[in-house]
Amino acid sequence: MYAQMVKSEGMKSRDEMSAEEQAFQDRIDRGEKIEPKEWMPEGYRKTLIRQIGQHAHSEIVGQLPEGNWITRAPTLERKAILLAKVQDEAGHGLYLYSACETLGVTRDELMELLHAGKMKYSSIFNYPTLTWADMGAVGWLVDGAAIMNQVPLQRTSYGPYSRAMIRICKEESFHQRQGYAIMMKMASGTPAQKKMAQDALNRLWYPSLMMFGPSDKDSVHSAQSMSWKIKMNSNDELRQKFVDQTVPQAEYLGLTVPDPALKWNEDKGGYDFSEPDWSEFYDVLAGNGPCNKDRLGARVKAWEDGAWFRDGLVAHARKAAARRTPAAAE
Ligand SMILES: [Fe+2]
Ligand SMILES: [Fe+2]
Repeated sequence: MYAQMVKSEGMKSRDEMSAEEQAFQDRIDRGEKIEPKEWMPEGYRKTLIRQIGQHAHSEIVGQLPEGNWITRAPTLERKAILLAKVQDEAGHGLYLYSACETLGVTRDELMELLHAGKMKYSSIFNYPTLTWADMGAVGWLVDGAAIMNQVPLQRTSYGPYSRAMIRICKEESFHQRQGYAIMMKMASGTPAQKKMAQDALNRLWYPSLMMFGPSDKDSVHSAQSMSWKIKMNSNDELRQKFVDQTVPQAEYLGLTVPDPALKWNEDKGGYDFSEPDWSEFYDVLAGNGPCNKDRLGARVKAWEDGAWFRDGLVAHARKAAARRTPAAAE
């Protein structure tokens, strides 16, 4: 499957590459990391800015659906855990914006692109979180899918991205466990609680499967990104792994995955399952999901409301620098 993909969509063959490009590809093939100031093809740099930038935006926008429940967490302990989890996501955003800045783009530029709708974030965050059980399902499924995507990226070729991923993945494991812990509590609670857990699974199952992106046959950028080790596995491979890991977890909870076609396939050693509705995926991506306007609106408002604080920080840094300069000259 991999070999077929690598041939597609106008990727340069080795003969078409310049000597610099060949040497660059050789370094990647040897498993070397590419570091910020080193030579890289423009396409590599641009693809990474898009990918890391979208990833950073997803972390920051991803705080919103869960932030929605901090004030309504059912116990003090749950509130403290959720608060810590949402703060982690802010931290992930910050590492990733920093990694992205090493490629020669500023954080302000990335923000502008997000706010203008010219850069995307993961579509999963355009769905609402309606009940407390959604906090369980988000941690279990959404952070679970994120881990599935991100663990291979620890080995990605770009040094700063790879190192950010190593730290992020450690925290994501905690996120997934806290989500599953909520699901266990709800699924073994009163019939009404179990019903909430099932409803959360029903609503978030297919959006979680969409997190791996379109099917390999419809996915642009894949072949070049794979040869550059910016992408380590195909979308369909990761989706299959996610389903195989998650179905037994749903069974353990006594919940039903909302897919009548779901069936263990002995030959392939994995589950057969229904594809998500890709027309919904593209529709949400185009801005028509249930929460797109709210999410982007909240980010723009936070940016505008924080302007005085950023201005203050810059003014303070300038003054501090001016105070230091005469002393340094002596
Ligand atoms: Fe995260
Ligand atoms: Fe997370």
